[in-house]
Amino acid sequence: MNVFVSEKNDETITLLPVTKDVLSGWLDDEGKDHKNWVEANQYKAASGSILMIPSDDKSIKILVGIDEDEPHWSWGGIVSKLPAGRYQLPDDMEDDEIEAAMLGWALGLYNFDAYKSKKNEKLVELVIPSDFEGSEIINIAKGIYLTRDLINTPAQDMGPAQLAKEAQKLAKDYKAKFSAIVGDDLLSENYPMIHAVGRAAAEGREPRLIKLTWGKKSDPAIALVGKGVCFDTGGLDLKGSQYMLTMKKDMGGAANILGLASMIMSNELNVHLTVLIPAVENAVSGDSYRPMDILTSRDGTTVEIGNTDAEGRLVLADAITEAVEDKPELLIDMATLTGAARVALGTDMPAVFCNDDEMVNSILNKSDTDSDPLWRMPLHAPYRKMLDNDNADISNISAGGYGGAITAALFLEHFVGTETPWAHIDLMAYNLSTKNGRPKGGEAQGIRALYAYLAEKYK
Ligand code: BES
Ligand code: MN
Ligand code: ZN
Repeated sequence: MNVFVSEKNDETITLLPVTKDVLSGWLDDEGKDHKNWVEANQYKAASGSILMIPSDDKSIKILVGIDEDEPHWSWGGIVSKLPAGRYQLPDDMEDDEIEAAMLGWALGLYNFDAYKSKKNEKLVELVIPSDFEGSEIINIAKGIYLTRDLINTPAQDMGPAQLAKEAQKLAKDYKAKFSAIVGDDLLSENYPMIHAVGRAAAEGREPRLIKLTWGKKSDPAIALVGKGVCFDTGGLDLKGSQYMLTMKKDMGGAANILGLASMIMSNELNVHLTVLIPAVENAVSGDSYRPMDILTSRDGTTVEIGNTDAEGRLVLADAITEAVEDKPELLIDMATLTGAARVALGTDMPAVFCNDDEMVNSILNKSDTDSDPLWRMPLHAPYRKMLDNDNADISNISAGGYGGAITAALFLEHFVGTETPWAHIDLMAYNLSTKNGRPKGGEAQGIRALYAYLAEKYK
């Protein structure tokens, strides 16, 4: 990340972090002029706010408002407001505070300008002393950049083939093994549901199962699966335009999994990693799969299609079956799976479903300390009946439609079985509006917490 530099220059400005609580005490220690200035500006140290303070000796000080519950987002807001220049932090900051500043600095400067004629060239640098060990946090930020870029790229340039290409690039960067099973090979290799959902897409945009493996075979095996629906029209059960609008982000689960994989590989966790991404376009054509079709999954389950817009769980099912065949120590899937999860928890709080209390409690613990929100929802077994239907083993939608995030998770659980510790994350992967450090558009959600959980276990 070129925004972090190790040397000061003559114009380096010192930032003075203040929380709402310490602001008044801090002012009492400062000169009267400063106090008057701060009061005249009605500066209250709101999270992400800045206040420039002029000084007699021509130097400038800048107060920056920090919320201690989410300092990285405060820094994200701050950096987007600072003029171009070189900045430094005060000497008395703790290592974790410096890391939060670095993370927010990087994430707050993210902007997606690949399609803009005029690029944003403002350089806002932060001096980080060369003896500070910042590589882990920079690797985390890089993973998040990857996630955001993948989601923000329009579906015209981020179809199944391009998503595979991005996974291949990532594999190359870390000497991971990459492979993909494409088009009709999905039938001969027995991924029938990935094929059925994706077969209506145009030439060059064929469905595929992307696979990446990395690490020593002797290390604990972990499997990550991400929903890679590169565009979700809904299929023959076509979405209305309002709901279709943001569906380029329906590969947000895959993008988050690739971001997480990037963090794992760059920080060299001691795992044998398998990443599986079913990449498809849920398109409309004469070859689309239909309502009431009955598909046979990789594991032999027959699935009646109640709605072609419940496509994510179908492609995930075949990938999950493959993942559990290898008996990993743990399995995590991420998916923009249901509108119902967003109705329940809103856009900023992904739902986590898990069949292992210890696993989910450790994840939620990291979610809390790293302020990367996640909220547990139940795999409520009695609701499994709602997937029963007249003609097949299971339906891809629930009768009645209540509890849609739970029934979607229960559908996946059918394919996970009972042997594998498994967490399923149903997320938005998108900011509908800009917040401190989080520009409107594609977003990484939950993967800092998941990385921290895995790093504690496997570093
Ligand atoms: N990708 C959508 C879910 C979605 C919509 C996630 C909006 C985040 C924001 C998914 O494929 C879908 O269409 N789900 C349907 C399922 C229903 C037909 C059972 C839904 O949630 O309406
Ligand atoms: Mn859908
Ligand atoms: Zn979808």
